[in-house]
Amino acid sequence: MKLLVTGGAGFIGSAFIRLLLRSSVKRVINFDKLTYAGNLENLAEVSDDSRYRFVRGDICDSALVIQVLEEERPDAIVHFAAESHVDRSILSPEPVFETNLRGTFSLLEAARMCKVPRFVHVSTDEVYGSIEPPHEADENYPLRPSSPYSASKAGSDLLALSYFTTYKLPVVVTRASNNYGPYQFPEKLIPLMISNALEDKPLPIYGDGMQVRDWLYVDDHCRAILAVLERGALGEVYNIGGNCSLPNREVVRRILQLTGKPESLMTSVTDRPGHDRRYALSSEKLTRATGWTPQVSFEEGLKRTIEWYCTHQDWVQRVKSGEYQNYYARNYDRRDAELPI
Ligand code: NAD
Ligand code: TYD
Repeated sequence: MKLLVTGGAGFIGSAFIRLLLRSSVKRVINFDKLTYAGNLENLAEVSDDSRYRFVRGDICDSALVIQVLEEERPDAIVHFAAESHVDRSILSPEPVFETNLRGTFSLLEAARMCKVPRFVHVSTDEVYGSIEPPHEADENYPLRPSSPYSASKAGSDLLALSYFTTYKLPVVVTRASNNYGPYQFPEKLIPLMISNALEDKPLPIYGDGMQVRDWLYVDDHCRAILAVLERGALGEVYNIGGNCSLPNREVVRRILQLTGKPESLMTSVTDRPGHDRRYALSSEKLTRATGWTPQVSFEEGLKRTIEWYCTHQDWVQRVKSGEYQNYYARNYDRRDAELPI
């Protein structure tokens, strides 16, 4: 297969491209704007592969997207590109709507014009909003997004599905739970806590820290997307969960144990506005359709992730220089002044 991957320089997109290029894929085109979250270092191990091409571009730039689609004629688009962080979407919602909604619209239009044979839209379980125990969301659960990020993803999911219903564009949507693993930008819970712990800095817990997330190792997510790409039914949605629900405090406690740092580093900070209390997901539909199940336990995945951050401190220090410092100051040092509460 020949694939066009959007957002391939980010955390999950780069893991997906590395996975593809370890297989017999024919060609992979990575279309990425290189925002603060995009980093070509994540793809250093594949950059010389003759099957790989990088195009720097914005998915909102229809002319460039169409040009690349006409040049390459891919068998499928796998669409990861997004502004992916809830906290940033609260501080600055505009880029989230620009990329996640307008960008997805431009890409769908380009795919329709160029008759792309398959379009995998990568989404999130956050579109279901907070879920009361003991329920878990299947694919028919109502969409009740809480943050600008999750609302933009819910909107783009519906738009993608409407292109299947209206234009017969061969769309499949995936909704995964919280990912973790190597190369994740240290703004999300696990890499931020690992990075702060390694530097003996405070670990900021929002509110009471008893919010529950379902953790999915990034390579398991990538294998699920590949399964959906190859065997998913058109017009369908597939949840991808990690079968590992934990409160944030417990995740952070395990990180402190594994890094040999004291629990006194945990610091309570003002809660995130609109904070979803609990995500819980059923991925039975995907397992039934493709046989996929997660392979990496949280214990194993967390060990691998911490090991990676310990041995890639140069990567961490580079991504934390510059713009990251401004974000950190806004979201943490000046939290009470900056947040809309
Ligand atoms: P990320 O923030 O690490 O990477 C996003 C990538 O998209 C970056 O390389 C960035 O440069 C690129 N990008 C952003 N705007 C762009 C634009 N306008 N045009 C082209 N490229 C652009 O994100 P991630 O964590 O790898 O997430 C990838 C996808 O998976 C997103 O769609 C996200 O909603 C979804 N998802 C993420 C998680 C998670 O836990 N991280 C869970 C479920 C679903
Ligand atoms: P995050 O990784 O931002 O993912 P999401 O909000 O998309 O689930 O956050 C995961 C959980 O961790 C969420 O409940 C918010 C919480 N959290 C903190 O308590 N402190 C932090 O510094 C961060 C980044 C997250």
